[in-house]
Amino acid sequence: MMETNRLSELVKSWLYEAGDRIKQALSQPLEMTEKTDRTDIVTNVDREIEQFFVNKIVEYFPNDRVLGEEGTNRYLEQETERTWIIDPIDGTLNFYKQQDYFCLMLAIEQESGESLGFIYELMRDELLWGGEASGVYLNDVLVKPPANQTLVEGIVSLNSGMLLENTFALQTVAKQAIGVRMVGCAGIGIKEVLLGKQAAYISYLQPWDFAAGRIMAKSLGIVVAEMNGQELTMTQRQAVIFATPATYEEIKKMQEL
Ligand code: IPD
Ligand code: CA
Ligand code: CA
Ligand code: CA
Repeated sequence: MMETNRLSELVKSWLYEAGDRIKQALSQPLEMTEKTDRTDIVTNVDREIEQFFVNKIVEYFPNDRVLGEEGTNRYLEQETERTWIIDPIDGTLNFYKQQDYFCLMLAIEQESGESLGFIYELMRDELLWGGEASGVYLNDVLVKPPANQTLVEGIVSLNSGMLLENTFALQTVAKQAIGVRMVGCAGIGIKEVLLGKQAAYISYLQPWDFAAGRIMAKSLGIVVAEMNGQELTMTQRQAVIFATPATYEEIKKMQEL
């Protein structure tokens, strides 16, 4: 088994290389296709970056399981030591329309070693990474567990559709918070909560949207939960909250009103 330090250094080198490829790709015209509707899009860069990571994983760890948003489904039925979960570009709509406010996310779930999460916001040169035992780092600086902000003290990041439809009483949540943000990139919303800049992030998420953040949340005392109180699974889209413990309890009470 590869030791955690070596593994994290290796993955960081892949992320930096992928980041350089994305920056170069931004100077070329992007090829965009719609998936389920006009807001759900994918570009040639999403697919190329996912393939780049899959090639690296297969080269170094040929027996590992790999799950990726853009179609990778490798050995998922088998029991393996390690599972990789890839979101090659999180915030694709932002990437396509704004060339900003997107990130790369990778999670490594390990049976006997330490699980590791990586959220790389390359346009800000910020890589948030780490796990429960090694701690979480923003680039090379150790991140301290954030203050336990309450809802009235905190800024919250919400999914715009859920806010408009008042799902999970999010309009009440928004009124009580000191401010609301809707960046359109799960990784950035989660990163702000892990860094203590925001008190909560709530959205419908797929496993690749929350896996990296959930690993890092453990060592920072941030609550990760499903909004209906169900177990988070790695097989479906669910309503997910990342929050400080105090804000989580307040939002949970609002669901019981
Ligand atoms: C999406 C973004 C968006 C969030 C969606 C995600 P994608 O990821 O993170 O902010 O609200 O739930 O699916 O498709 O751009 O990788
Ligand atoms: Ca997508
Ligand atoms: Ca995503
Ligand atoms: Ca994506």
